[in-house]
Amino acid sequence: MIIDTHTHLYVEQFNEDRSEVILRAIESGVQKLLLPNIDSSTIDPMLKLVEEFPDNCYPMIGLHPGNVGDDYQEELSKMRERIDRPNNFIAIGEIGMDLYWDKTYIEEQRIAFRTQIGWAKELGLPIVIHARDAFEEIFRILDEENSAELKGVFHCFTGGVKEAEHILSYGGFKLGIGGVVTYKKSELPEVLKEIPLDNILLETDSPYLPPVPFRGKRNESSYINYVADKLVDVYQVSRQEIERITSKNADELFRLTEQSTKTTLG
Ligand code: NI
Repeated sequence: MIIDTHTHLYVEQFNEDRSEVILRAIESGVQKLLLPNIDSSTIDPMLKLVEEFPDNCYPMIGLHPGNVGDDYQEELSKMRERIDRPNNFIAIGEIGMDLYWDKTYIEEQRIAFRTQIGWAKELGLPIVIHARDAFEEIFRILDEENSAELKGVFHCFTGGVKEAEHILSYGGFKLGIGGVVTYKKSELPEVLKEIPLDNILLETDSPYLPPVPFRGKRNESSYINYVADKLVDVYQVSRQEIERITSKNADELFRLTEQSTKTTLG
């Protein structure tokens, strides 16, 4: 069994065939699909999907750094309002900083990131971090905000050994590994050889970043199997072992078994 810890299956790229995509994932062994939120407009489609597939889909709440703009305070209020109602959010995400496209809202991004880390601490939820061209900024904030209780994942990790070690030194953080690890020029396989499997989560970031051989196409959760196969090469362990350890890591971080028990008990 594989857990896709980061998949945006509620976005419009899946409007034509969403159920088929999910059934394909489940049939291929990907039974749990964790859904990071993007902004206030994606909350309802995301929760609708969770209603349709309650045994497979798990929602998160948060404002994506790429969607932090002039209205970010209003966006944050809308997130907070959903958090204050009864909910089944398993994490605060995705949050973080993205300085790849432009730095116009760098200060707003910092404030939004800190605010949402505060929510995670208050609620005892893990955080899902999006870091693009922003390790230094994020580390500066986490160096201050980290605590024994704070846990999370650097989703779509693409840094080097130095960054990986900094992240692991926080104590409660994992690295999310997806399609990038299969790319020909990727240095990630070499980096991962230095990082024990106990620190790794599998993800797709669907519909983005498809693994080889699907580059240029829409990514979907069943393709995570190609990422798992690549990790068999990297770690030189069985496919079963990759699935067992990464699923255990994800289950512990996001407390999925606990969640299911809660749902079953009503
Ligand atoms: Ni994402």
